[in-house]
Amino acid sequence: MFNLVLFGPPGSGKGTQSENIVSNYKLDHISTGDLLRDEVSRHTPLGIEAKKFMDQGMLVPDEVVIGMISSRIDENPNSRGFIFDGFPRTRPQAEALDKLLEFKNTAIHLVLSLEVPEPELIKRLISRGETSGRSDDTEEVITRRIKEYHAKTQPVANYYYEHSKLERVVGDNSIPETFKILTKHINKYLLPVT
Ligand code: AP5
Ligand code: MG
Repeated sequence: MFNLVLFGPPGSGKGTQSENIVSNYKLDHISTGDLLRDEVSRHTPLGIEAKKFMDQGMLVPDEVVIGMISSRIDENPNSRGFIFDGFPRTRPQAEALDKLLEFKNTAIHLVLSLEVPEPELIKRLISRGETSGRSDDTEEVITRRIKEYHAKTQPVANYYYEHSKLERVVGDNSIPETFKILTKHINKYLLPVT
C-alpha cells in the first residue's frame, strides 16, 4: 500500500493533480472538501453544520472530518493506496490520520507540498469561481481561506518535515509540467499502472 498526502494552499492544484495521479497510479482519492460539499448538497445534518464554516472560509471542526476519513478508509479495504487531498489540515488531524493508518498496519509514505505564490492562487480561484458554483470562490472568502491556511494548516508541513516525509514542489508551472514533477517523486515508491 502507498499513501500520499497532496498538500498546499487553496488553489494550489490539489484537486487537479489528484485526478491525474488517480488515473495513472490507481489510488483511491479522498478529498475532504469534495466529501463535505456532497454532504452540503444532500442537506444532511453534517452538511448543514459544515456549510456554516465553509461559507466563511473557516475550517470545519476536526472531529467531523476525522470521522469522514475513517469511514472512507474502511470502505476501501483492498485499496492499492490512498491520496489524501485537503486533509490533514491541522496537527490534530495529522496525528489522527497516523493513528488510523497504524491501526490498518500502514502509514503515510510521502507528502507532496505544492508551492504557489499567493497572487497566482487568488487569480486561479477567482477565475474558477466564474464557473465552479462554489460558494467559497469569492474574493472575500478566498482571502479568508488563505489566512486560515497560514494560521492552521501550514504548521502541518512542519509535522511531516519532522517525520522526513515532506517534499516541496514548485506548483506554478503548467498542469502537465507540475504533474511530471510529482510523478518523479511518486515513482520512487510506486510505478504507474500502464
Ligand atoms: P477544499 O475543497 O479542500 O478547498 P481548498 O483547500 O480551499 O482548495 P481548492 O479545492 O480550492 O484548491 P485545489 O488546491 O484543489 O486547487 P484546484 O486543483 O481546484 O476545502 C473547502 C472547504 O471545506 C474549506 O475551506 C473548509 O471549510 C472545508 N474543509 C475541507 N477539508 C477540510 C479539513 N480537512 N478540515 C477542516 N475543514 C475542511 O485548482 C484551482 C484552480 O486552478 C482550478 O480552476 C484549476 O483548473 C486551476 N489550476 C490548477 N493547477 C493549475 C496550474 N498549474 N496552472 C494554472 N491553473 C491551474
Ligand atoms: Mg480542491
